Amino acid sequence: MERHIGQFAVSSIGLGAMPLSFTEGVEDPQATIHAALDAGITLIDTADIYAPSWDQMGHNERLIADALRTYNGDTSHVVVATKGGITRSEGERWGRNGTLEYLRGRALAAREALGVDQLDIFYLHRPDRSIVYSESIVALRTLKWEGLIKEIGISNASVEEIQIAIDVLGKGELAAVQNEFSPWFHHTSRSELELCAKEGVAFVPFSPLGGTGGGAKRLEQRFSSIQRASVELGISAQRVTLAWEMSLGSHVIPIPGASRPASITDSAQAMTDEIPFDLLQAINQEVL
Ligand SMILES: NC(=O)c1ccc[n+]([C@@H]2O[C@H](COP(=O)([O-])OP(=O)(O)OC[C@H]3O[C@@H](n4cnc5c(N)ncnc54)[C@H](OP(=O)(O)O)[C@@H]3O)[C@@H](O)[C@H]2O)c1
Repeated sequence: MERHIGQFAVSSIGLGAMPLSFTEGVEDPQATIHAALDAGITLIDTADIYAPSWDQMGHNERLIADALRTYNGDTSHVVVATKGGITRSEGERWGRNGTLEYLRGRALAAREALGVDQLDIFYLHRPDRSIVYSESIVALRTLKWEGLIKEIGISNASVEEIQIAIDVLGKGELAAVQNEFSPWFHHTSRSELELCAKEGVAFVPFSPLGGTGGGAKRLEQRFSSIQRASVELGISAQRVTLAWEMSLGSHVIPIPGASRPASITDSAQAMTDEIPFDLLQAINQEVL
């Protein structure tokens, strides 16, 4: 049930906490995080920009810190991954900044929001294409050397950018690549997933069910092989999808998002689901 991101052993599925700060009308965000912990999830994914508005950066990180503080159980083994590098400013203007100075500021802010001395995992959220990619990777390495972060991740990175990160950091130093991957979206990210397998880097599919825009709720309507497995096994199409993604490699750690406890409680059961080979093959044939 455990998988590895750098030095950390984590649950094979993480909680994507983004919907807790972006979905309107979430009644009790803490309850969803607590439900994930109850279900055995030990990886929580967040970012500085997950906030209802530009002037509440760090909102999602603070929610997670509160939930960990108020949880009635041991949270010492829970790994929180956050991100920096996307800017949000007055008037909801979004941009990128992958410089050392900016990333250091975001890592310090995340440390405060999460109430920790060191960030477990810090991702460059998106490439800043106004500078060369290696400059941002060197910046992440500096943050690690300075002791601000324990592990380095990159997100929304192409095969070329993953290779640059590995070359700059050296073998074993890039802990994770977080890219979009789902039955709906894999045309570019499948090769990224395969490169990560070869290089021993964790691959963390984001929006693994198809995203909050509706894809996550329409899996069985769109993919007959997922529907068939769901009916035959008596489990949700979301569970089938997550178990299928995990079958693509022991380095794959999906992070399904949830704004309700019921969603993450259901998704977490995929950690122990075993999908028979013929059903997995049918999904591979239809989807990939
Ligand atoms: N690095 C990046 O650039 C990037 C970009 C996007 C997302 N992310 C990360 O990836 C995480 C996941 O992506 P996502 O939230 O965009 O999309 P997702 O995980 O594909 O889908 C989330 C949606 O799926 C629903 N859902 C989850 N499990 C379910 C289940 N078992 N049954 C029914 N519905 C279920 C949730 O419903 P309810 O809301 O009703 O609970 C939510 O609306 C995010 O939370 C975030 O941490 C990263």
